[in-house]
Amino acid sequence: AFPQQVRIVEVGPRDGLQNEPGPIIPTEIKVELIDRLAAAGLQHIEAASFVSPKWVPQMGDAAAVMAGIQRRPGVTYSALTPNLKGLEGAIAANTPEVAVFAAASEAFSQKNINCSIAESLERFQPLMEQAQAAGIRVRGYVSTVLGCPYQGEIDPAQVAAVSRALLDMGCYEISLGDTIGKGTPLQAKKMLEAVAREVPMSQLAAHFHDTYGQALANLYAVLEEGLAVIDSSTAGLGGCPYAKGASGNVATEDVLYLLEGLNISTGVDLRAVVKTGHWITRELGRHNGSKVAQAIGPC
Ligand code: HMG
Ligand code: MG
Repeated sequence: AFPQQVRIVEVGPRDGLQNEPGPIIPTEIKVELIDRLAAAGLQHIEAASFVSPKWVPQMGDAAAVMAGIQRRPGVTYSALTPNLKGLEGAIAANTPEVAVFAAASEAFSQKNINCSIAESLERFQPLMEQAQAAGIRVRGYVSTVLGCPYQGEIDPAQVAAVSRALLDMGCYEISLGDTIGKGTPLQAKKMLEAVAREVPMSQLAAHFHDTYGQALANLYAVLEEGLAVIDSSTAGLGGCPYAKGASGNVATEDVLYLLEGLNISTGVDLRAVVKTGHWITRELGRHNGSKVAQAIGPC
């Protein structure tokens, strides 16, 4: 059955901007984007990444971004942390929640974080302990859940095993990433069924990229299974630097429109997000990837 409510995790400021080619986006623009999204009613915003600036130059100002944002009450601002060094940066910047990221594919793990899946899980262990000691919640990502750009097909059992390992380690939620946006609804449903045997549905999120235009259909399929947390990116910003050809995340505007049609509440103001999406794409000189935003137009 469909959930009555869905929590949107807005990943535009992180997943959306990390891959933006060209000059480094000014910190003030990133801060304004986050503040506008919070004002639009988004209660969970992935704001930054404490990763190596050599690997992801666009996220090099993570500390300045965390220092610049408004911090609205009731809004969770989170950041990616691949290792202890990242967590230390996040703690110093007063980040209330972080996310670790693993993959279901060995090849992708190597390309993205320069280690094997097993090594990544070992690396996360001390991070989890320190985060817990500092009172910081940790979310876990699993990438390439519906296919890998290097390895091809991914066994749902492998996705389930990595998800379970992150849960057992103490992640409060596992976000399932279709990194290359290649999956289809039946495949998404089967993958979710396998994972849900290891992780309660209430602790799962869908993080679907839209490369093949299937993200909304895939979301419909997993919503029907009862999944109630969706990661999305305003204006469909983004991609992944280690997944060639991957387009942005599913657009937040499009997800909100789908959910409104299903009478599922989110607490987010669609028109305010549309406005923000038009603003940020203008600032970046980029195409607005949301069909709904294009249909509604400037507002
Ligand atoms: P490495 O080179 O193996 O790390 O990279 P290292 O520990 O050997 O360190 C190398 C250098 O990086 C050192 O500096 C460290 O200090 C520095 P040097 O001595 O050469 O000057 N360093 C750091 N600097 C800042 N912050 C840190 C940090 N750690 C080390 N946290 C590492 C390993 C994990 C660091 C690197 O591979 C990395 O940063 N990878 C990040 C990749 C990334 O951000 N990918 C995109 C996010 S994941 C994603 O988009 C998928 C997702 O959206 C879900 C989906 O769609 O599937 C989440
Ligand atoms: Mg992603």
